[in-house]
Amino acid sequence: MRRYSRITGTGSYLPPRKLTNSDLVAALAAKGIETSDDWIVERTGIRARHFADAGVFSSDLGLEAAKNALQAAGCSAQDIDLLIVATSTPDMVFPSTACILQNKLGANGCPAFDVQAVCSGFIYALSIADAMIQTGAANRALVIGAEVFSRILDFTDRTTCVLFGDGAGAVVLEASDTPGILASDLHADGKHVDILCVPGHVSGGAVLGDPLLKMDGQAVFKLAVGVLEDTARAALEKAGKTAADIDWLIPHQANIRIMQSTAKRLKLSMDKVVVTVDQHGNTSAASIPLALDSAVRSGKVKRGETLLLEGVGGGFTWGAVLLNL
Ligand code: ACO
Repeated sequence: MRRYSRITGTGSYLPPRKLTNSDLVAALAAKGIETSDDWIVERTGIRARHFADAGVFSSDLGLEAAKNALQAAGCSAQDIDLLIVATSTPDMVFPSTACILQNKLGANGCPAFDVQAVCSGFIYALSIADAMIQTGAANRALVIGAEVFSRILDFTDRTTCVLFGDGAGAVVLEASDTPGILASDLHADGKHVDILCVPGHVSGGAVLGDPLLKMDGQAVFKLAVGVLEDTARAALEKAGKTAADIDWLIPHQANIRIMQSTAKRLKLSMDKVVVTVDQHGNTSAASIPLALDSAVRSGKVKRGETLLLEGVGGGFTWGAVLLNL
């Protein structure tokens, strides 16, 4: 009998400090940076984001999301035999945030590693966990997306600092006789490294280069809408499905206009798209599991429904996972 993987619990966590656009506009104005609630809402759909306090790391946010997912799945940390963290804002250069989080969770012993695919990180991590469960290498995985993007924002650059937030989301993925994950589709094209990057690196005890986020917003926008349609169609085709079979599209929450454009290309009503970017901003690898968990907990997304999760991010990376919840 074929082995599949199935999500049995979701969880998320947002740091308590919430900044509305007005809060951010006021904080930036104090530094001589001009922006407005109207500009941010009109161009991005973002109304608020959460920022972690100093000393709070991706592993701390991921830990809370993981505990919530474990509780929803009705299992304990000791039941986990694979732990993957998707993050571009790791606690340290090494060891991995997954190892740090594993220790905080008390799940010691199982394989634990990070996946670095920026905003597509959770899609990559979920696909890897699915493949490992299908082969029998794991039975019950904890897959987490956790970010503290506020640490890598340039608060003198209004074109980027208004877009991002901090947070974490997690799922428990278990072996199952029935799907579960129906298909996944992953891609990368490294020739686009420069349009979205944090170009700094550590060398000889110093940070060399600029360790803050740089983005060519228009280039990212154009690339994102094309690849999100392509990867959605590829995942559907692999599963022998069409866009009409999707109950909910849960895209990476970068920008409402990218989501509207993707929905239009797939001929999906926006009523079928889960949107949390207004309240979370872009939380990179955390955005999809955060959106999934908030839709599950609000009762919007229900067991048995067909979901298309898809992401795009720096690298460039992109991908989709089609699943029955
Ligand atoms: N407040 C006020 N004005 C601003 C701001 C701001 N925060 N930022 C830029 N502007 C100004 C610019 O200076 C420019 O002024 P000018 O015309 O006088 O030169 C004007 O607004 C238009 O700037 P554009 O960059 O052309 O604005 P655009 O409509 O492209 O919107 C945005 C910018 C929102 C970044 C858009 O390009 C976008 O959404 N790109 C996708 C990027 C994205 O979502 N990235 C997330 C990370 S990648 C990922 O997650 C997939």
